[in-house]
Amino acid sequence: MAASISDILLDWYDRHARDLPWRARPGSPATEPYRVWLSEVMLQQTTVAAVKPYFEKFTARWPTVEALAAAPEEDVMAAWAGLGYYSRARNLVKASVAISELGTFPDTEDALKKLPGLGDYTAAAVAAIAFGRRAVVVDANVERVVSRLFEITTPLPASRKEIRTRADTITPSDRSGDFAQAMMDLGATICTNRNPRCLLCPLSDRCQARASGDPARLPAKQPK
Ligand code: ADE
Repeated sequence: MAASISDILLDWYDRHARDLPWRARPGSPATEPYRVWLSEVMLQQTTVAAVKPYFEKFTARWPTVEALAAAPEEDVMAAWAGLGYYSRARNLVKASVAISELGTFPDTEDALKKLPGLGDYTAAAVAAIAFGRRAVVVDANVERVVSRLFEITTPLPASRKEIRTRADTITPSDRSGDFAQAMMDLGATICTNRNPRCLLCPLSDRCQARASGDPARLPAKQPK
């Protein structure tokens, strides 16, 4: 039987995953929910390169969700300075208090979505990456990869539902967190917005947009 898209991508991820401070490393508790959540909140609207030093600073100063919950909000806001979108930091403090009061980190998408600032994306990412639950994680990278793999020509945002349905069909039940991160790494490093590096792509022979010649035209965007 031909290998599935997820098998191929997970195999690629095992060899090429980016070494990021919130990911598992020998001897580090990287899939701790707190670290996963913090990184995913920081990574919304912000690049990996910009996030790294902030992630290191936050986890050194507040190593646990309880430590963050006990921090004065103004200290957290000051440490956040430069990352932008400050409502993220305010919600981070509020959610850390809520989690500490619960006494355990919520571990399902539905329970995570009840926390301040956790939308569909963050809840799915934390459930999958930190708790090994199957969840369909869709960010802009995943939208781009899926649009190209399945040659979805409907422009964004109208294509969102179709993209999600397709993403769901290729998400494995095992390792869905690694799968999500592999899709994001692929989108960030190979299946890039402009000049995708198809010759390096593990999925190039499964990519319908590549087969028809011009993957970079997708995802189409609604003309303004
Ligand atoms: N962008 C947002 N979250 C990410 C993650 N966990 N890995 C890589 N890129 C990301």
